[in-house]
Amino acid sequence: MDNFVFYNPAKIIFGKDQEKTAGEWIRKYDGHKVLLHYGGGSIKKNGVYDTIIASLKENDLPFVELGGVVPNPRYSLIQEGIALCKREDVDFILAVGGGSVIDSAKGIAAGVMLNEDEDLWEDYYMFKRGPEKALPLGTVLTIPATGSESSRSSVVTNETTHFKRSMAADCMIAKFSIINPETHYSLPPYQIACGCADILAHLMERYFTPTENVDFTDRMLEASMKTVINYAPLAIKYPTDYNIRAEIAWVGTIAHNGLLNTGRLGDWASHDLEHELGAIYDIYHGEGLAITFPAWMKYVYKQNPKRFVQFAQRVWDVEFSAEQEERIILEGIHRLERFFTELGLPIRCSQLHIDNSRFREMAQKIMINRDHEGEFMKLYEADCYQIYCLSE
Ligand code: NZQ
Ligand code: ZN
Repeated sequence: MDNFVFYNPAKIIFGKDQEKTAGEWIRKYDGHKVLLHYGGGSIKKNGVYDTIIASLKENDLPFVELGGVVPNPRYSLIQEGIALCKREDVDFILAVGGGSVIDSAKGIAAGVMLNEDEDLWEDYYMFKRGPEKALPLGTVLTIPATGSESSRSSVVTNETTHFKRSMAADCMIAKFSIINPETHYSLPPYQIACGCADILAHLMERYFTPTENVDFTDRMLEASMKTVINYAPLAIKYPTDYNIRAEIAWVGTIAHNGLLNTGRLGDWASHDLEHELGAIYDIYHGEGLAITFPAWMKYVYKQNPKRFVQFAQRVWDVEFSAEQEERIILEGIHRLERFFTELGLPIRCSQLHIDNSRFREMAQKIMINRDHEGEFMKLYEADCYQIYCLSE
């Protein structure tokens, strides 16, 4: 096990009706003027918007609004948000929505505090560097998926350059995040599937580590993966079952709050391969991961077959057979693909009508400002291209 520092101060406020307390929490964290940030309108349809407005008013909190965040949140809206916060003397940001809204809020929070000579995109997102200061922010999470409600990162698309990049810093961790699984009932089945694919991917990125002797976190990761595998189909089948939604919501946060990668090095190649797809084709993050992850696995498993055998047996219950290591590994990958397919997700680019014409360009872009990609197996441009070909 490697040395580690674990720090996650995001206060999680979990359960029924908790979004009604948003205003009180902002007051506790000394907010006086709020930017209410949200997406394309789902919160207006399911009633969450009205509840939040009522809570802000009850707590005498003046606010300004900025809606319109889209999946694969755009850098231009972040710039608009920064200008708005400065103009209106905003001192607290409340993000109400999914990972896209929260990531956009984090970008605004950091951008407001930059010095004149700093450029948020060129100096931070493009170099995966974290800023030192950010406005405080809170979240009301409406889709379990990215873990952004307690993660350090913000992932954003620059629509001018077609790069999708991330930055991460402790100062961008939400002060509080409110998670009421009831507010997830209105999610379309496809978004539930995308969210669950992302949660599973966050667990697998941590699981496929080059670090040895990490049995405790292996076991926590396996339990978390089994939770997603058991409950994702149930969440689609019984969309208003609170207990099913609660399981998915909690594992989604734990998957990406830093706890499960303590003492081990993760591998984020499948995510970065997906971000290139998202930057060009504007696909949902979860559907992209259902494509890139199995392809990455097929390319790298020979690097450490023992770990892939463990994954197949402990997570997918593939039966043990001493002489047939490769068969076990491929069966594990096959069961992962079957799981994605049964959720209604694509597992090949062609299913999203994406052809191979830009695979070389994506493989090139992925290496910009990076020495290599991934840690389980270090990848370079030619490797990334081969993985895209496996995903065709
Ligand atoms: O925009 P609205 O109208 O709200 O609709 C959204 C959006 O269309 C809808 N939705 C959300 N909650 C809903 C709902 N519809 C009905 N009822 C509800 N309760 O769902 C759609 C997707 O929302 P989005 O926020 O884009 O989804 P998600 O949470 O999956 O976020 C994806 C983004 O997060 C990034 C991804 O790359 C992607 O850009 N990630 C962020 C990470 C982080 N900051 O730590 C880590 C992740 O690995 C990921 O990269
Ligand atoms: Zn993700």
